[in-house]
Amino acid sequence: MKDTDSFILALPKGRVYEDFIPTLQKTKFALRDDPKKSRKMLLDTEHPEVKVLIIRGWDVPTYITSGAAHAGVVGKDILMEKEEEEFVELSDLSLGKCRLSLAGRDDVLSGTSRLRIATKYPKSSTKYMNSLGIQAEVIYLNGAQEIAPILGLSDAIIDLVDTGKTLKENGLEELKVIANISTRLIANKASIKTRSKLINEISEALTQ
Ligand code: PRP
Repeated sequence: MKDTDSFILALPKGRVYEDFIPTLQKTKFALRDDPKKSRKMLLDTEHPEVKVLIIRGWDVPTYITSGAAHAGVVGKDILMEKEEEEFVELSDLSLGKCRLSLAGRDDVLSGTSRLRIATKYPKSSTKYMNSLGIQAEVIYLNGAQEIAPILGLSDAIIDLVDTGKTLKENGLEELKVIANISTRLIANKASIKTRSKLINEISEALTQ
């Protein structure tokens, strides 16, 4: 079978991937190659029609919207930021649970109409701050947002919070929970019709 005939399931590298692999390996779509030992990006599974594509989480919606991949696994935080892309959210995999939160010094919200927000979620941040009646000046950072307020780069941050350890160790408080986040299964709109049998099988296998 050519790669172009295969059903492609896109998985993100990193934290979601580590959480997700044990679930995947219990299904008939288990990986045959060990991704830790290989630099291959398209991996065979135990299912002859299904291959797994390993990419960055931020790229999963792009692959799904274009149809280059048929289904994918990705955090809700990324889906909220990529709302304009065309994909269908199929199910909540109940993995990677955390919160998207506004954090800063405890008095940062009092009496202000404008705040500098360090984040890698510019759209969600602008939308949320608008809902509070505060104009956000977004400072885009790709990581380590928690240090920005301490060094005067921003007034507050909007980022993922799990245990709260990173905030605490950098002197910040979780001020508002913007959204509860978890890992979702998404699919290409056309593939839902043309590859419905496989998509249903994958969805069922991953949500059991
Ligand atoms: C995430 C997030 C926070 C941290 C929160 O970063 O951006 O920095 O985890 O976790 P905690 O509340 O348990 O301390 P991650 O380690 O995934 O790296 P990243 O900055 O590359 O996203």
